[in-house]
Amino acid sequence: MLVNGIGENVYQVDNQVATVNLTPGIQVYQEKLLEFEDKELRLWNPRRSKLAAAIINGLSIFPFERDSVVLYLGASAGTTCSHISDICCDGRIYSVEFSATMMREFLDVSKNRPNLLPLLEDATRPSKYHHLVESVDVIYSDVAQVHQTELFIENFKYFSKENTKGILMIKARSIDVTVKPSIIFRQEKSKLEQHGLKVLEEIRLDPYEKDHIAYICEKSF
Ligand SMILES: C[S@@+](CC[C@H](N)C(=O)[O-])C[C@H]1O[C@@H](n2cnc3c(N)ncnc32)[C@H](O)[C@@H]1O
Repeated sequence: MLVNGIGENVYQVDNQVATVNLTPGIQVYQEKLLEFEDKELRLWNPRRSKLAAAIINGLSIFPFERDSVVLYLGASAGTTCSHISDICCDGRIYSVEFSATMMREFLDVSKNRPNLLPLLEDATRPSKYHHLVESVDVIYSDVAQVHQTELFIENFKYFSKENTKGILMIKARSIDVTVKPSIIFRQEKSKLEQHGLKVLEEIRLDPYEKDHIAYICEKSF
């Protein structure tokens, strides 16, 4: 069964999700391609992408539209970025990654996708790239490192406008392996709130990603 109820360019295929391929015939990570009406869909693997895991686990706030401008922190080899590139086909995705090795793989993906804008930068230092990036509609962060929340908050200060939505993927084990994930999640949520961000939705990513949570937030007024 195919349902297009999540957002434009996103389909539910039985209990999986898929996006409309912006580059028909080209795979990014060996994902399955499916024909549907006059479109080609790319299956979106929830074990390779936390955003797909959040959608399958019931994410209800989905801020990506076809013309959204997105700042993506922790682009890696471009797996999730490529699906956001399918969804925001008329938008722009500023994609920050500090590993030159991952960026090389990312460049292979972005050469076919003009809406992916690669930035080889350290996301802890937004002042280094603020002259290259505009205010955005969505800030998505998935860096899996100790100061993941602080880094997200700092980028939010630089690049948000009134209605910007933030999606922060927290990996508890990257913050402290000795502390229960539920305690880490509470602690990171209160950091967001202390810095003027309101958490609109939170969603655990198990069983696809153990000890991870997604926080969807915006500025509190
Ligand atoms: C969990 S992986 C991201 C996976 C990717 N978001 C996806 O779903 O396709 C985390 C990535 O963040 C990058 N990263 C970690 N700290 C960073 C920083 N300070 N600045 C930029 N990238 C960073 C790592 O090099 C790694 O590629």
